[in-house]
Amino acid sequence: MAWRRRCGHRTIVGCRITLTKPTTMLPKLTPLPDPTSAHAELNPAPRLLMGPGPINADPRVLKAMSTQLLGQFDPQFRRMMRETMALYRAFFETQNDWTLVLDGTARAAIEMVMLSAIEPGQKVLVCSFGRFGQLLNEIALRCGAEVRVLQAPWGTVFDLAQIEAAIKDFSPRLVAVCQGDTSTTMLQPLAGLGEICHRHGALLQVDATASCGGTPLPVDAWQIDAVTAGLQKCLAGPSGAGPITLSDAMARCIYARRHIEEGLQPADYKPGAGKRIASNYMDMAMIMDYWSDAGLNHHTEATTMLYGARECARIFVQEGLPQVYARHAAASTAVVAGVQAMNLQVYGDVANKMPNVTGVVIPDGINGEKVRGALLNHFNIEIGTSFGPLAGKVWRIGAMGYNARPDAVMQTLGALDVVLAAEGHHFARGAGVDAAYAVYQSASA
Ligand SMILES: Cc1ncc(COP(=O)(O)O)c(C=O)c1O
Repeated sequence: MAWRRRCGHRTIVGCRITLTKPTTMLPKLTPLPDPTSAHAELNPAPRLLMGPGPINADPRVLKAMSTQLLGQFDPQFRRMMRETMALYRAFFETQNDWTLVLDGTARAAIEMVMLSAIEPGQKVLVCSFGRFGQLLNEIALRCGAEVRVLQAPWGTVFDLAQIEAAIKDFSPRLVAVCQGDTSTTMLQPLAGLGEICHRHGALLQVDATASCGGTPLPVDAWQIDAVTAGLQKCLAGPSGAGPITLSDAMARCIYARRHIEEGLQPADYKPGAGKRIASNYMDMAMIMDYWSDAGLNHHTEATTMLYGARECARIFVQEGLPQVYARHAAASTAVVAGVQAMNLQVYGDVANKMPNVTGVVIPDGINGEKVRGALLNHFNIEIGTSFGPLAGKVWRIGAMGYNARPDAVMQTLGALDVVLAAEGHHFARGAGVDAAYAVYQSASA
C-alpha cells in the first residue's frame, strides 16, 4: 500500500511491504550426524550390483583412478587425453575427430551436445519409448527448442518408417533417441536411421548411456551425428564421465556457435556466426577448444575421471569389441533362460530387449520391494525396480560390464530362487540356475 508524508518542504512517498510467509516448501532433510565426531572409515558391505546400473567397477578402473594427479596441461596428461580420444574412437567404431570425454554424468553429456547444437526455436524430434526418452524431451524443452515427441508404448520400439514419417511431417533440425532405454529395457534398432535423418536434412543424436559397450554401435556405419554415454553401465566404471563422439557435421554446427569467454580471448579472436551457447559449463565449442591442440582453458579437468574413462575403454579394446558383445549376449540369454525357468515372465518385446538388462514382470501376489530388500540384506545383491507406470510391476536385472560374468549371473539367480520360494512363488526349485548354467555350458562346448 502506497503512502505520502510531508517532511519540511518535501513530500516523501513510500509503500508498505507486507511480509507474507514464504509459500515455497523446501525438501525435507533429517538432522545430520555430529560433524565433530570422527566418522568411521568407509567400509560398506560388498554388494553385487546386478541392477540397471551403476554396476561394480572393474578393479582395473579403480586402480587407474588411484593414480596420482597431474596438472591438466602437463604434457603427460595431454598425451593421456589424446590416448583416450583414440581409445573411444575405437570403442565407438568411428573416425570422428571430436571424440572425447566430458566431466559430468551421462545426462550432462546429452545436455551439452543438445544445448550446443540447438538454438532456441529450432525443431527437435524426440523419439521416446521410455523414461529416458522423456529426459531427452525435457532437455530439448530446456534448450528452448520447438519439440515434437513421437511416443512408442513402453515395452516396444519404433519401426524406422514411423520415425521417417514424423521427420517428413515436422522437418526437425535434430532427431534425438535412446539406443537403449533402461527404464523399459528396450533396444531401438538404429541401422538406417542416420541415413533417413540426413536425407531429410536432420542431424541424429543418440543417447547410448545404457547400451553402448553391451551391443554394437558402429557410429560411422550408422551415420550417427552425436553419441553420448556414461561409464557406469557396460563400460564398467563409475558414473561421472561422459564419452561423446560428434560427426564432422555436428562438430561444425556446434563450433559455428563458438564464443570464447572474455578473459581468454586471443588477439585475433572472431566469434562464430551462431548464437552464443546459453551455458558456460555446457559449452561444447569451448570444450572442443580445450581438447584441441590450442588447449584453451575451460574448467579444471577431472583428471581422476579421465584416468578411469581411459581404463574403461582400454579394457574394452583389449578384450575386443566382438568378444565383449558376445559376453553380454551370453549373459542376457542366461538371465532370460533362468527367469523363464523360474516361472517368471520377461517384460516387453523380448526380440528387441537390451542384452545387458532384463525386465522381469513381478508375479501377482509377490511384493517386489520385499524381494529386492531380501536380496540386498541377505545376499548383498542389488537388482533394480522401475519407474513411472512400471514401478512395482517390473524388476530389472542387469548383467553388464564387469558383472556380465557366469558366476555373477548364477549367484543372482540362486539368491532369487531362495527368496522367491520364501515368498511363496510357485516354480521348480533350482531350475533357474540350471537353465543359466546350461546356456553357458552350451556356449563353451
Ligand atoms: C538411457 C539412459 N540415459 C541417461 C541416463 C542418465 O545418466 P546419468 O545418471 O549418468 O546422468 C541413464 C541413467 O541411468 C540412462 O540409463
